[in-house]
Amino acid sequence: MSLSEKTEALSPWFHNIHLPDGTQTAPDHFLGDFPGFKWDKIKDAIPEDLSGWSVLDIGCNAGFYSLELAKRGARVTGIDLDEHYLKQANWVAEQFGLDEQITYKQMQVYDLAHTEEEYDLVWFMGVFYHLRYPLLALDILSQKTKQLMVFQTLSLPGREEMGVPEDVEFHKREIMKSDAWPSMAFIENKLAGDPTNWWAPNHQGIISMLGSCGFKVTGMPEDETYIAVKDKTLYSCLDTWNYSEYLSAIGKDWQQEVMKKIKK
Ligand SMILES: C[S@@+](CC[C@H](N)C(=O)[O-])C[C@H]1O[C@@H](n2cnc3c(N)ncnc32)[C@H](O)[C@@H]1O
Repeated sequence: MSLSEKTEALSPWFHNIHLPDGTQTAPDHFLGDFPGFKWDKIKDAIPEDLSGWSVLDIGCNAGFYSLELAKRGARVTGIDLDEHYLKQANWVAEQFGLDEQITYKQMQVYDLAHTEEEYDLVWFMGVFYHLRYPLLALDILSQKTKQLMVFQTLSLPGREEMGVPEDVEFHKREIMKSDAWPSMAFIENKLAGDPTNWWAPNHQGIISMLGSCGFKVTGMPEDETYIAVKDKTLYSCLDTWNYSEYLSAIGKDWQQEVMKKIKK
């Protein structure tokens, strides 16, 4: 079977990948050369040499980003819940001879809470807004990230920012209606015909949620795409008040775990 025939057999494709023989997996993609045009803007915002780095690509799809990060020397784990996309990803990695460097697993993002591994770089693009429990996912990923996260989400228009106050008086909640207040629109029905689009945060909401999970935003190389550094001086809310809530949410015996932590 030629590469084109195999590409056809594995369709439909969401990632347009330029295969080694010059053919493409989704040349007529409705967004253009996707996600190549996004990568072109992001690629200089992360280290060119990723030798020795471990990378986790969440919602890896056909593995466009896993591939590019592996080409830079990283050892990559890609996860996705969709078996069809993982088939594409495994086949593509073989075509580039990178199948030893990349491991794909069928997993839900929340399953990561029950794994031991941590990663230098967590690639979290195009998934956050598809989740019913987005902050839980971000709390889990904060535990998994050693250095850097590249984060992308569907978002609300606008780039307003504000210095979020330490406290808001009970009778002064009007401030929370300002455009810059960190917020997220809930999509009860569909957005762009897709019933799995649940949330659209605003710009300050993204910065604040990342901050609340222990990340500092250091750059925005592309629309809706944030470079977030795991800042050890920033406490994640898990280190402060809600560790037991987190443990309960990931299905752990929180009473026992909290006692263990206190005894340490
Ligand atoms: C919009 S695509 C984004 C693909 C890729 N990350 C990108 O930015 O081009 C969303 C991908 O995330 C996967 N996905 C959605 N929800 C997920 C979840 N809860 N856990 C793991 N993967 C998920 C989908 O199967 C799909 O491949």
